[in-house]
Amino acid sequence: MMLRTAFWIVAALSVAGTAGAQTAEVAPPFVTTPPEVVERMLALAETRGDDVVMDLGSGDGRIVIAAAKQYGARGIGVELDPKLVAAARENAQAAGVAQQTRFLNGDVLKADLSGASVVTAYLLPWLMDALQPKFLAELAPGTRIVSHAFAMSGWEPDATREFPLSGEHAGRTATLYFWVVPAEVRGEWYAAQPEGEWRLEIRQNFQQIEVEGAVGDVPLRTSGAVLRGTHIGWQGEGEGEGGTGRFEGRVLTFQIVGTLTANGASRSIVFARRP
Ligand SMILES: C[S@@+](CC[C@H](N)C(=O)[O-])C[C@H]1O[C@@H](n2cnc3c(N)ncnc32)[C@H](O)[C@@H]1O
Repeated sequence: MMLRTAFWIVAALSVAGTAGAQTAEVAPPFVTTPPEVVERMLALAETRGDDVVMDLGSGDGRIVIAAAKQYGARGIGVELDPKLVAAARENAQAAGVAQQTRFLNGDVLKADLSGASVVTAYLLPWLMDALQPKFLAELAPGTRIVSHAFAMSGWEPDATREFPLSGEHAGRTATLYFWVVPAEVRGEWYAAQPEGEWRLEIRQNFQQIEVEGAVGDVPLRTSGAVLRGTHIGWQGEGEGEGGTGRFEGRVLTFQIVGTLTANGASRSIVFARRP
């Protein structure tokens, strides 16, 4: 019943959108995520005891409370409706996790997201899109985001899960979208090495990257470049000594620090941003 309500709200929005008549944004109503979906969301985020799980539009608090109860995580809920904030606090008290959880009354678009290591949401597409710049600006690279039912424009999920529901929702499916906030790596990087200077040019579209450059005078081409949070890697296909091999590293504030493995031997390389 609850899921059906969300369906009709989105369906109504889609129809209005295609007619070009919809301008006002409808606030996501209070529709609960079924417990089995809550479990899947927290599992997909690989929630741990040291996480701070922030649910945007926390409703009755169920996601934050489950994260605290099942994983020992700390949780923060942000909710527009003060009555739901009060209900969530009572529910947390009853579940014995009041000490680990906080419920804030406010607008998610004005909330400070920076303390979260896991963000969960069951909102609407326009609000996910409005949140996207905040996710990228405020969340540390590596922060995991899971959204029930709604994706974001432009930013491809790292994973999508679709599964059938049981019990009162039997016959329906739920969809979850998962993203890892990527480190910012676009631009030029260099490293002085015995075989010559490494120069990298990294192009970036969210978590998708392309790496190319040169080792000394030899062009460096790569394949299989990946960026997941602060982890970066690529397969070098340069000719000659320097460029070949697999690089795996971590993105720090001003450096990429990692290991190049080629012909069974490994050595560390530290790239700095081209000043
Ligand atoms: C679909 S419900 C999800 C509730 C809960 N997260 C869950 O999954 O069961 C969306 C919730 O977001 C709240 N909400 C809508 N717009 C909001 C906003 N701009 N800021 C904070 N909360 C908002 C609604 O009041 C509602 O409780």
